[in-house]
Amino acid sequence: MNKVRAAITAIGGWVPETVLSNADLEKMVDTNDEWIISRTGIKERRILKGPDRGTSEIGINAVRQILEKRNLSPLDIDLVIVGTVTPDYFFPSTSNLICDQLGLKNAWGYDLAAACSGFLYALSTGAQFIETGRCKKVIVVGSDKMSSIIDYEDRATCVIFGDGGGAVLLEPDDSGVGIIDFVLKADGSGGQHLNMKGGGSRNPSNHETVDKKMHFVHQEGQAVFKHAVTNMADVSAEIMERNNLKSEDIAYLLAHQANKRIIDATASRMGLSSEKVLMNIERYGNTTSGTIPLLMTDYEHLFRKGDNIVFSAFGGGFTWGAIYLKWAYDPK
Ligand code: UT7
Repeated sequence: MNKVRAAITAIGGWVPETVLSNADLEKMVDTNDEWIISRTGIKERRILKGPDRGTSEIGINAVRQILEKRNLSPLDIDLVIVGTVTPDYFFPSTSNLICDQLGLKNAWGYDLAAACSGFLYALSTGAQFIETGRCKKVIVVGSDKMSSIIDYEDRATCVIFGDGGGAVLLEPDDSGVGIIDFVLKADGSGGQHLNMKGGGSRNPSNHETVDKKMHFVHQEGQAVFKHAVTNMADVSAEIMERNNLKSEDIAYLLAHQANKRIIDATASRMGLSSEKVLMNIERYGNTTSGTIPLLMTDYEHLFRKGDNIVFSAFGGGFTWGAIYLKWAYDPK
């Protein structure tokens, strides 16, 4: 009998309705469409606007799609892991909120923070519960409402990030498809270059932290860019070597959508031609934990059973990694 692997058997993705275009940003900060497109590849992003709306709403919409597509009872789900750095609250967890809203009464779950690598960390973790046999149906969500922690007076960050995300269903499979391998890495010394220092236990929110804008993302773009280009390319090459994959064996690369130039550098190191490198950064920007599930949703129609797919990401922490999987189903 083949090894039992965690296979992605259904996916869902969701973005909020409000569009924030480069033209809109030109009216808010000293920037321009040409700069944003040439430096990042982004044309517009989505914003979850309105009171009392949080990251759980993105997850709820994505998970609901999965339940509907597969005609599942909410009671069938065993575990929900949510990758996010913008939870609705410190607690209850976003996972608790999603399970409650959708009636997933048999599921337990938790949130996991690994910034832009959050979905890969969460997916690898969820896969362990399937491989060990502890769970039969695990949902992994990657979603972020980045607009809640972005300073729309800081042109270094506000042009990059957006809101959105998605979810996948993991089920056991012993036919050879599913998650084959992952390589995950972390280097906490990178935290100085990309962080949000306010609101946690070291600097609890108060007038001073708010006056100092410590509740917003701080990013030193060039330092992060340098590490991202090297590490995302290295880890993607490493997962190919470990699994004896040549560039022609890979059907698609789904890389974290932070910057088109970082994705191009990774693809070039992997020797991939452009049609294998999927992108939607121009429409959604960087949705942190949300980018890879959103990409999967946009391009699901291309994937065939048995396709070799590589996910790759780099983000705050620093955290980074790659996952190699064989796609588990043909388009409906
Ligand atoms: O997903 C999590 C991980 N994050 C990332 O992977 C992000 C990695 N970093 C990046 O993607 C890029 O560093 C940025 C897109 C953030 C910035 O691009 P860059 O090519 O590294 O620009 P830069 O920071 O070196 O700035 C170049 C110039 C500067 O002007 P001077 O000093 O040359 O006159 C900036 O002040 O561009 C200026 N600039 C802008 N100009 C117009 C910075 N932001 C903007 C802006 N619009 N929004």
